[in-house]
Amino acid sequence: MQIADFTLERYFARWEFAVRHVLCASDVEPYRLPELLHLADDDSRRRWESLSLGYTESQGLPALREEIASLYEGLTADDVLTFAGAEEAVFLAMHATLRPGDHAVVAWPAYQSLYEVARAIGADVTLVPLNPADWSLDVDAVAAAMRPTTRIIVVNSPHSPTGAQLAPEQLSRLVSIAELHAAWLFSDEVYRFLEHTAPALPPAASLSPRALSLGVMSKAFGLAGLRIGWVALRDRSLRAKLASLKDYTTICNSAPSEVLSLVALRSRDRVLARSRGIIEKNLSVLDTFFAAHSEQLSWVRPRAGSVCFPKLAGQGIDDFAATLVQREGVLLLPASQFGYPGNHFRLGYGRSDMPQALEGLARHLRTN
Ligand SMILES: Cc1ncc(COP(=O)(O)O)c(C=O)c1O
Repeated sequence: MQIADFTLERYFARWEFAVRHVLCASDVEPYRLPELLHLADDDSRRRWESLSLGYTESQGLPALREEIASLYEGLTADDVLTFAGAEEAVFLAMHATLRPGDHAVVAWPAYQSLYEVARAIGADVTLVPLNPADWSLDVDAVAAAMRPTTRIIVVNSPHSPTGAQLAPEQLSRLVSIAELHAAWLFSDEVYRFLEHTAPALPPAASLSPRALSLGVMSKAFGLAGLRIGWVALRDRSLRAKLASLKDYTTICNSAPSEVLSLVALRSRDRVLARSRGIIEKNLSVLDTFFAAHSEQLSWVRPRAGSVCFPKLAGQGIDDFAATLVQREGVLLLPASQFGYPGNHFRLGYGRSDMPQALEGLARHLRTN
């Protein structure tokens, strides 16, 4: 398979662990192991202490799939498959649904794998741009892009990099469009549970058997290093196809990660309260920051998730970000890493060190 470099991930590979502050991270402040284990109920503590480090069940630990299914109205553990992060699920879902010559419609800008895997398979991809005035998706444009060969519509809400959120009526319409064309609706919901300004959406998999909901422990649960993601979907034959593709990638999940995910999901009220607390605190810091720097920076205030996509006035964002990281050790993610034109950059507000990172950015803005 020939596939283009994943630009953003190559950028992170170069910088993420070489800088003082990752001001463009998309996850919430990660848990430390003792802090997470402290939340364990009796059953998951027993599972952790007696854990066998052998292979695990290919579809995912049954208790974990049951806990994940409880996040989806009307779904059961049988409707859930776990993967190594959301990323493996994206890769395999595209392979399970697309063949060379098929067509895919993808909202854009987007996390690159959401369209690049389809291209590498040989599908023709139509990117439907979000409106930069408020980062809304024009659902009419999605409907207009549909062809007889369209096999999949891909959306992401809460959205990275913009922090936009679909309205419930938009999601219902997307479901109807997919159903009408017998296409799949691939709904990337990895930032679910981080809704702060816009209302939460029902997960797509609960709305339709034509929909796949993508979830992960990385973002709202602060556990990216566990590499546990999942797809929730009701269609049995697609699920079987996905399960058999996993035999060629990871076969099964990491046993410690499954149990630690179980711990977090069973304590999700406390885990999500922690994440929302960090996000709310950081958002109010950002309100003050953007008000103070309105001559140099503009933003569409995010409505959900942990990232936003502000814009730098005047100078080019690539050069600005390059000198910022050299002088202040603060990492931004310029729009070019999304293949998106202009002076936008991704800023993350899920990490505890965001206020210190902003101080470095403010100093750099003063001298530029
Ligand atoms: C929109 C989106 N989808 C999928 C992923 C992949 O998630 P993970 O790294 O947890 O596999 C990311 C990661 O940043 C993302 O932003």
